[in-house]
Amino acid sequence: MTAERSKNLLEIKDLNVHYETKEGNVRAVQELSLSVDCGEFFGISGESGCGKTTTAMTIMQLLPREGIVDSGSIRFNGRETLEFTEEEILDFRWKRISMIFQGSMNALNPVHKVIDQMKNVILLHEDTTEPEAIERSLDLLEAMGIERSRGDAYPHELSGGMKQRVMIALALTCHPSLIIADEPTTALDVMIQAQILELLKQLRVQTSLSLILITHDLSVIAETCDKAIIMYAGRIMEEAPVDSLFASPAHPYTRKLISSFPSVLGEKEIDFIPGNPPDLINPPSGCPYHPRCDFAIDICKAKIPTLESKNGIRVACFRSDEI
Ligand SMILES: Nc1ncnc2c1ncn2[C@@H]1O[C@H](COP(=O)(O)OP(=O)(O)OP(=O)(O)O)[C@@H](O)[C@H]1O
Ligand code: SF4
Ligand SMILES: [Mg+2]
Repeated sequence: MTAERSKNLLEIKDLNVHYETKEGNVRAVQELSLSVDCGEFFGISGESGCGKTTTAMTIMQLLPREGIVDSGSIRFNGRETLEFTEEEILDFRWKRISMIFQGSMNALNPVHKVIDQMKNVILLHEDTTEPEAIERSLDLLEAMGIERSRGDAYPHELSGGMKQRVMIALALTCHPSLIIADEPTTALDVMIQAQILELLKQLRVQTSLSLILITHDLSVIAETCDKAIIMYAGRIMEEAPVDSLFASPAHPYTRKLISSFPSVLGEKEIDFIPGNPPDLINPPSGCPYHPRCDFAIDICKAKIPTLESKNGIRVACFRSDEI
């Protein structure tokens, strides 16, 4: 599935992010390194609370006040974004990288027509005329499979699937090189999910856009992405091209996650992962997955396994060679 692509549109190295809370610091993202190539569709998956949205919000520099970047580097097109000035951030956000937020389908302003909301985004970020902004917005709606006349609709007059397509159109308005889509198909019914996935696949063929697709639904990753990471407790457990991720998962957590999605395997029996994800204020010692892992041995409780590259994948497990 993966064609030869130019390297490193986005490169994250050793990123550590925490949230300050009254109970203590929540270690939401730890030692995270990844790179996304031009035109690549990159999946991020893992159970709730593993740090997917925090990773996205850090890239967008939209963390809430209590979210602190402790260390790390986020380079976009070779430039260190964590050192950007306010002005540089405003130029970079939406124009270079845009985001479809988790649950954002209902974030359209109810009192403004769709066309006005799209036009305003363009006018805010670009030096262009109102008629040009309207024309571009209508072209985008059309490209998303929405009739131009629907531009005059208010959000409540649109179906859930249409609203999500408007959100994708909004993310595309300023021609970004990378879009981050956080759970873009969650809360949509199966037919609409399929339409949105089809739309993303079309974008992939028709443009050189890169996409970071965040979802807990592995079947969405299997269908859409080139490569994916599986996160657990703020850390990357495994990164692999999707074909090998699903055919031969190297990490015990990836295995469990996949076996809890029968639609990926086509099997009837659904496995489940016993226990709960760890408390990120007081994470377990050693490998964060050890309290739930069928393969845990003594060293797993004492040391954190590093993410090692081998055979075109990266995996953080002391026993991945045996498994
Ligand atoms: N504003 C915040 N203040 C304190 N803790 C937070 C805040 N936002 C997120 N967290 C915590 O940080 C951790 C990572 O959260 P994050 O939202 O990144 O997870 P996620 O993988 O996106 O989960 P989900 O699948 O539920 O969307 C979780 O433990 C979460 O409770
Ligand atoms: S390092 Fe140990 S506990 Fe962690 S996933 Fe591997 S075998 Fe399981
Ligand atoms: Mg999230």
